[in-house]
Amino acid sequence: MNQLQLPVPSSDALNASQALCQHIAETIDAHGGWISFADFMRLAMYTPALGYYSGGATKFGGAGDFVTAPEISPFFGATVAATLAHVLDEIGHNSASILEVGAGTGQLAAQILQELERRNALPLHYAILELSGQLRERQRQTLLTLVPHLIARVQWLDALPEDFVGVIIGNEVLDAMPCELVQLADGQWQQRGVMVSEHGFAMQNRPIQSAQLAAACEPLPTIPNYTSEIHLEAQGFIAALGQSLLRGMIILIDYGFPQREYYHPERSMGTLIGHYRHHTIHDPFFYPGLTDITCHVDFTAMYTAAEGSGLSLEGYTTQASYLLDAGILDLAQQLPTTSIDYMKSAAAIQKLTTHAEMGEIFKVIAFSKGLTGDTAPGLRGRDRSGEL
Ligand SMILES: C[S@@+](CC[C@H](N)C(=O)[O-])C[C@H]1O[C@@H](n2cnc3c(N)ncnc32)[C@H](O)[C@@H]1O
Repeated sequence: MNQLQLPVPSSDALNASQALCQHIAETIDAHGGWISFADFMRLAMYTPALGYYSGGATKFGGAGDFVTAPEISPFFGATVAATLAHVLDEIGHNSASILEVGAGTGQLAAQILQELERRNALPLHYAILELSGQLRERQRQTLLTLVPHLIARVQWLDALPEDFVGVIIGNEVLDAMPCELVQLADGQWQQRGVMVSEHGFAMQNRPIQSAQLAAACEPLPTIPNYTSEIHLEAQGFIAALGQSLLRGMIILIDYGFPQREYYHPERSMGTLIGHYRHHTIHDPFFYPGLTDITCHVDFTAMYTAAEGSGLSLEGYTTQASYLLDAGILDLAQQLPTTSIDYMKSAAAIQKLTTHAEMGEIFKVIAFSKGLTGDTAPGLRGRDRSGEL
């Protein structure tokens, strides 16, 4: 789309974006005129008070830039709760907690708590690890509105806990983590980074210095100008989750592919995109701080990182298979079939589960430590672990 047709930000939003650009330009200058793309993305998304997630952008929902599954239907969180209840049952509700990473507006937390209460299966605590102070406050408000009587169980953490027992859940968190960009140029893999040109921010390649990044380029096809993403931060995050978890399960839901599909010769421009007011943006420098920047998840890399930190793969499947096996249709059928709510729910469930929408591109990957019970609801359907 012609970017001239996109909605123009308010003057306050423009001022905030300009202040962020100034901060990023000064950081680039302080680093000798170049920072890696991952460092640029971290600044654009998480600079306190100005970054996309840390600043005032609406982000979620119709008035924001994108919608996520818990914003589409409360049945999403209620269905996820079926998996959580199964694990809490095995461990014991009085000794197990839930930890949600990257909780957005707090909708998923509210949906899970409501459903676990209905099942008489509330955990000891519901902890949230959230980088954005602005979103922490939004989560608190959502929970105070939807589950005020359960707010005492909710804790906000500043870092991953030690020896965590229970379930760690994250929806669309890995895709929001800074990724490295690499490009095959002049016969060598180069690290893409950001410099300041006379027209604003611009990409510039540099030889790869890090052995880890160089090794991560090995599965990529050697096609001139092939450009893609490497997810070192997300891999480090999975390894940290593995170290934090003493016993229980980790469930991560996100869009992405296994490595063979991710680094397909035809995906020669990678998956990096922006979201701005429900438009897809291909310029990563479009209104920094007002545009979400994201890339798909390489689930093979996540699996490798998990295995390296002592986690076992519990299952890998599509969102459609996960939600249907965990009982999303049974939950929706509790509504009277003639009600408006039922019709809205049917449309939302279709969006979450059909191949053409979120059912196939979104995947669910689950890891465990110290569990011996039956396979949890959601993971008993078509397992795709062989593709990793
Ligand atoms: C795309 S949003 C998804 C929000 C929510 N889970 C949902 O489904 O609506 C990404 C979320 O992850 C958070 N986030 C990103 N990196 C994080 C990290 N390293 N630790 C904790 N939260 C993080 C962001 O601040 C934001 O809340």
